[in-house]
Formats: sequence, structure tokens, C-alpha cells
Amino acid sequence: MPTQQKALFLLEPHGSFTVKDTSVPEPGPHEVLVEVHAAGLNPLDWKIQVYNVFVSEYPAIIGSDAAGIVKKVGDGVTSVSIGDRVMHSGALTNARGTFQQYTIVPDDIVAKVPENITLDQAATIPAAAGTAVLAFYNQPGTPLGGLGLTAPWDGGRGKYAGEPIVIVGGSSAVGQYAIQLAVVGGFSPIIASASLRNEAHLKSLGATHIVDRNAHLASAVKAITPKPVKYVFDAIALKDTQEAAYESLAPGGILLTTLEVELDRSKLSSDKRVTMVYGEVHAPVQRALGQTFYKYFTEMVATGELKPNNVQVLPSGLAGVPAGHERLKGNKVSAVKLIAHPQDTL
Ligand SMILES: NC(=O)c1ccc[n+]([C@@H]2O[C@H](COP(=O)([O-])OP(=O)(O)OC[C@H]3O[C@@H](n4cnc5c(N)ncnc54)[C@H](OP(=O)(O)O)[C@@H]3O)[C@@H](O)[C@H]2O)c1
Repeated sequence: MPTQQKALFLLEPHGSFTVKDTSVPEPGPHEVLVEVHAAGLNPLDWKIQVYNVFVSEYPAIIGSDAAGIVKKVGDGVTSVSIGDRVMHSGALTNARGTFQQYTIVPDDIVAKVPENITLDQAATIPAAAGTAVLAFYNQPGTPLGGLGLTAPWDGGRGKYAGEPIVIVGGSSAVGQYAIQLAVVGGFSPIIASASLRNEAHLKSLGATHIVDRNAHLASAVKAITPKPVKYVFDAIALKDTQEAAYESLAPGGILLTTLEVELDRSKLSSDKRVTMVYGEVHAPVQRALGQTFYKYFTEMVATGELKPNNVQVLPSGLAGVPAGHERLKGNKVSAVKLIAHPQDTL
């Protein structure tokens, strides 16, 4: 085992990213050291750089998605073993960020990668699917919470048969997992907004109807189903998509956003709830739901219930990550997850 590794550091608030040498972290009790073969990029990465949010210690190693090989385990670890292929969501500390060659994860929120997917595919799942899980199965709250749906492991499989759901931004990483969780719950129809070039892919995941993201959402939804829409999941959650999502929601329904609610809460109808997901399985307030998901995670992927996003691998290992961030920031990524290979860093 090397004692030194390469990591991508965000040097200072609003600063630039640079690859530097640093020490390989040591796993403590109930921690796992993962050799990161694939690290997924997320919009959060560039938002941390631009807005200086969520990180308190600089230079910072960030990154929220990893898949790789277990290299060491701390005392008490029984969930995984050395040599296992695993996937997990990183956290925003230097030992736990995923833009490095070796990272640490707690043993209760790491899952084995089943044989049917590659490590690149696996690295698309943890943060986005974890967010969709917390969004579907957490109880509603103000401002943070979920849709309050029954999870498949609690008897929710097929429970929502005949119930419509609208997913704004179906081709986003989070939106694709939301579509698939809607399928598991039995929702029908599953209406997703996206660019129409992504229609076939989203239907292959289980969406029943795709609405052009430039169309008037509420009218399009009404043309598809006469039923009141009680669940709307806005994976994009910009002001205009929130307004369109809210307009599509029926009285008695709930809107879930992935970004802060920009609707004027004082003007919201008392019979429509709005809540925002906090997609972080590491957080103590929702760790229990995260742990439960990680127990079922491998099986859901192995059975094909959760299919990974399509991937595009960036060149130059960790040095290629900042160019990927620029593409995400410029809205130049469509229905694909950008992946870096930290082990290819020169
Ligand atoms: N609250 C949390 O904890 C949490 C967790 C994860 C993510 N997020 C946030 O959730 C958002 C989505 O993240 P992500 O990783 O899933 O994003 P992503 O995969 O990078 O999103 C790219 C997709 O967004 C779609 N899109 C953009 N504008 C759209 C619009 N107006 N209508 C419909 N689709 C639109 C594009 O669709 P087309 O190419 O089909 O046009 C594209 O496929 C980000 O803002 C992220 O920061 C929040």
C-alpha cells in the first residue's frame, strides 16, 4: 500500500483546482479505505467552488461519488472485505472526498458493486440515487424533507399503482433515479420533462410519457392524465421549473425540490406542500434511511431495478475534472454522468 497519493485540491474559497500529492488516509474503527477507480462529477462540485458552500477547511478535497476496490478495513468492519468492488457517496472532508486516489467511507453506507455493472457505471449511482431515495422516502418537512412515500423495503413496491407522478428534469442524474423509484412504487403514468432527444432512454428506464422541457408542463400533464397529480419531483428546481412544477400539482399534493424553494411561501396554497431534499446519507438526521438504502442498494442494482446513468469518462485522471465542472456549469451535459479515473492521474 502506498503512503502517498494524488488528490485534486480546491485551494481556497472561490479558488482553482490543482492536483497535489498528499498522504493516504488511514481507516479508523468502522471505516473502509477505498482505492477509487471511478469518481463521479456532480453539479455540487462547481457550486462549492463558485459559492464557497459546505466546505470549511481549505485546501479541500471534494467529490461525492466513488466506486473502487476495498484496500483496508478498520476494526469492526464486517459489511465489506479487502478486495471487494464497492460504491459509495463521498462526504465533504479531506479524508472522505472522492477526488483522490484513496478515500475513506464509514462501513454502514458503502455497498458492494454487483457483477452486472462496471465501476464506471457504479460511480454514477450513490449520490444521485441516494438523493432520490431520501427525496422519495423521507417524511415531508419545511424546509427540508421528502415526499413521504413508502419505501420498497417497507412494503411500498407497487403500492402507488394508478397514481400519477411528474418528474421535472427526468434526464438529470437524480431525475433518472427518480423515474426508476417511481417504477418500483408502481406509479402510473410516470411523466418526465426533458429534451426530446432523451425520450427513448427515459422510456427505457420506465417513464411512460416525456414532455418537452420547453412545453407548458401543466397543460401537457392534463392532456396525459385526468387524474389529480399528488406527487411532483422537481430535479432541476430553478425558479421557472419550480413554478411549472407547482402549477402541475393538484390540491392535497406535494412538490419536492432539489434546490432551495424559490416560490414565495406566503403565496402558496395551504393544501399544497413544498419540501426540499437534503441528499446526504452521511447526515446524522437521515443516516438511518441511508443505512437502510445501503442494505438494499446492491440487490436493487443487481436485479436491474436501479440502472446506472450512461457514462462519459474524462481524460487525464483527476486533472480532467475541472474541465468537466465547466461543462456541468455551462449546462453542456445531457443525460450522462461524467466520470474521472483517479488512478490515471499523472
Ligand atoms: N438537494 C440535494 O441534496 C441535491 C442532491 C443532488 C443534486 N442536487 C441538485 O439537483 C440538480 C440536478 O442534479 P443532477 O446531478 O441530477 O444534474 P445533471 O445530471 O447535471 O443535470 C443535467 C440535466 O438537466 C436537465 N435539465 C436542465 N434544465 C432543465 C429544464 N429546465 N427542464 C428539464 N430538464 C432540464 C438536462 O436535460 P436535457 O439534456 O434532457 O435537456 C440534463 O440532462 C442540480 O442543481 C444539483 O445541484 C441537489
